[in-house]
Amino acid sequence: MINMGKIEQSNITETLSAVPATASVPRHVAIIMDGNGRWAKKRSLPRIAGHKKGMDTVRSAIETCAEAGVEYLTLYAFSSENWKRPDDEVSGLMGLLRHYVVKELGELHKQGVRLRFIGRLEGLAEDIQDILKSAEKRTENNSKLTVIIALNYGARAELIDAFKDLLDKVDEGQIKADELDEEAISKSLYTKDFPDPDLIIRTSGEERLSNFLLWQSAYAELIFADELWPDFDKKCLLNAFQTFSKRERRFGARL
Ligand code: FPP
Repeated sequence: MINMGKIEQSNITETLSAVPATASVPRHVAIIMDGNGRWAKKRSLPRIAGHKKGMDTVRSAIETCAEAGVEYLTLYAFSSENWKRPDDEVSGLMGLLRHYVVKELGELHKQGVRLRFIGRLEGLAEDIQDILKSAEKRTENNSKLTVIIALNYGARAELIDAFKDLLDKVDEGQIKADELDEEAISKSLYTKDFPDPDLIIRTSGEERLSNFLLWQSAYAELIFADELWPDFDKKCLLNAFQTFSKRERRFGARL
């Protein structure tokens, strides 16, 4: 089944007027937000200034997705490899995350955003884990848009955790080893509650998945945009949706 939502007439706002009423929007968009460091470097600013500016783009992407009728937006905010960055950048990013979730939770809640976090969250500071849990709890009944933030996330680590979970399920007799199938694996991933992404966008001209949603991206459309993440404004995101709407998705079949 083609996994896309249609833009309904009622959802088309002024900002979407450039998008034809018949265009299809992806149901689940996932974004690799790359280029914050280069944005800052171009302006002789510290890298954290690029991440701060990147937060503004996060706000705008959430608003645009909610307006367009996207149901799920996954943002790759901190990979398991990002710990290797200098201490001040890591602590700056963690500070931004705390600030974002604490200070903007009320606004996100008002917008009908359901927040979810994926990754090895147990590897984050305890106060951050508590903040994330309470944000998930407070927004759990919202249904306008689910925003999934990947933190201390790596797709291979996710698969290792899924295989361990599956082995436990086999040991406990919940599944038989010879009944293992794609659905059983999907149900053991951090993303078990969400559909696979229809569209994955990476900004800044890099063309790789960098250990992001490797299982889930099997049939995703990929768009690599040249803009650095802080410059990836509403227009850029709507352009990506338009490109997506023109792609023919066959899911391995001949139509
Ligand atoms: C990649 O750019 C970006 C990151 C590692 C962090 C992304 C984080 C944010 C946008 C802010 C926090 C977000 C949330 C949702 C709390 P880079 O630093 O690798 O850029 P470069 O390749 O130009 O160096």
